[in-house]
Amino acid sequence: MGGQDKFWKLQRASGYLSPGPLPLPILGTLWCFGFGWHQGTLFSAKAYGKIFTVWVGHMPMIVVNGFHPVKHVLINHYEETSWRITTPFLRDTMNGKGILFSSGRCWKEQRLFVMSTLRLLGLGRKSIEHCVKEEASHMVAFFASKRGKPMDPFFSTFHAVANVISSMVFGHNFCTEDETFCKLVECIEYEANFFLSTFHLLYETFPWLMCHLPGPHQKAFSCLEFIHSFVRNEIRWHKEKKKTEDPRDFIDFYLDEISINKGDPESTFDEVNLVHVVYDLFMAGTDTVASTLRWALLFMVVHPDVQEKVQMEIDAVLTPFQCICYEDRKQMSYTNAVIHEIQRFKYVLVAGNYRLCSKDTTMLGFPIKKNTVIIPDIASALYDPEQWETPHQFNPNHFLDKDGHFFSRDAFIPFSMGQRLCLGASLAKMELFLFLTNLLQAFTLQLPEGVKELNTTPAKGRFVVQPYPYTICAVPRKVTAWREGGLLPK
Ligand code: HEM
Repeated sequence: MGGQDKFWKLQRASGYLSPGPLPLPILGTLWCFGFGWHQGTLFSAKAYGKIFTVWVGHMPMIVVNGFHPVKHVLINHYEETSWRITTPFLRDTMNGKGILFSSGRCWKEQRLFVMSTLRLLGLGRKSIEHCVKEEASHMVAFFASKRGKPMDPFFSTFHAVANVISSMVFGHNFCTEDETFCKLVECIEYEANFFLSTFHLLYETFPWLMCHLPGPHQKAFSCLEFIHSFVRNEIRWHKEKKKTEDPRDFIDFYLDEISINKGDPESTFDEVNLVHVVYDLFMAGTDTVASTLRWALLFMVVHPDVQEKVQMEIDAVLTPFQCICYEDRKQMSYTNAVIHEIQRFKYVLVAGNYRLCSKDTTMLGFPIKKNTVIIPDIASALYDPEQWETPHQFNPNHFLDKDGHFFSRDAFIPFSMGQRLCLGASLAKMELFLFLTNLLQAFTLQLPEGVKELNTTPAKGRFVVQPYPYTICAVPRKVTAWREGGLLPK
């Protein structure tokens, strides 16, 4: 087909869709957004209103914009929008398995099982909170070992968060020097970032060609294989040990579920799905939390007044070296507000919840065909000017009432809404609170000598929105001296 024919075919197809910039053959509408897919891609298209179309090549994607439209689609159209997108790369890597990229029966069964097992593990003797506290104390020890010298918190935060998932899933954690675990962490990071690369786009467009060519996509496949074989080894080890009593972990419970469903040919519980589910927990639960934590540390340095208020609150609620519990957040309105504001202001997902429309329908007044990609843009709710007093400013007061008490906001939806709501939300909130408060109880975070400021713009090319690498100094605190000086309540 000639270039002109292609152009007019595209224009005809876009005629019935919601408004959006002019699509061009091959380029789609990415030409208006600097050819990249990042948070700004959607921001710059917002002039088109509450629902608009962007084209990636010849594929239309319907973007829903603003808190109320996003809520409407995720809640009122939950049935039509609960499918996940399938692309050549996802087909060749995930094959419709696990939770994150599955749909239909597989997704429903696996999701229900993971949710109930996470609840069980939270209640267990070696509860999830215990695992988070253990990792928080390792992180404090690591920061202390730097003795106030400049350090990059990247690896320690990623390692701590990955270890929480490890403890929950495998029943044990890994030391920082463990080479296999370091490789696992590296592979998770590589996989996540591959999704925004040009080679990923090339693979989605020419899968039959790309699978024979060398390039970063081949490394993405080998990273995936490394993670899968890591998990398969753990499964083998669990089968040999066959634990039936506490402390039990996610793999123990899943292996029981496979045995229970053995006679059912329709069951989706098998070892292949187990590998994919564990992979999903690492992929969804590591970079997201670690990046949010790194934004939080960065903002404490950039806003020393906020850091000081958080420390004052910690000191008012706890004695200097008293262990912090998740329950303590109820007495720490300001700290809680700061964590919420960081999650809002530096939202870590570019567009975390791509969905596929499962039948022909009408949404917000526009017809949507079966198999059309829908992106209810969560960031647009977190920056919605109708919901937030100062949407583009870091302002913990968004979550504080006039008496300084914490209150939650309807438009605060970083974990999405509806049927596919993040199933690690409670864990993520607990991790962010415990990691940050433990660090600020022990240290004051500062700029290294000679450094005037830190870059607070997001690093380019990352699937999970994160800061550029930075170094800070964690200076041990002199809480007792302050208290004696009458600056803190005795
Ligand atoms: C700050 C941290 C986190 C953020 C901002 C976040 C956000 C999200 C979002 C927006 C979704 C997509 C929901 C949708 O499609 O509407 C999601 C899904 C998911 N998240 Fe999280 N998440 C975080 C941490 C975690 C953690 C710690 C875990 C694991 C323990 C986790 C596991 C998952 C899983 C398995 C899904 C797929 C749910 C499904 O498709 O049914 N997430 N998350």
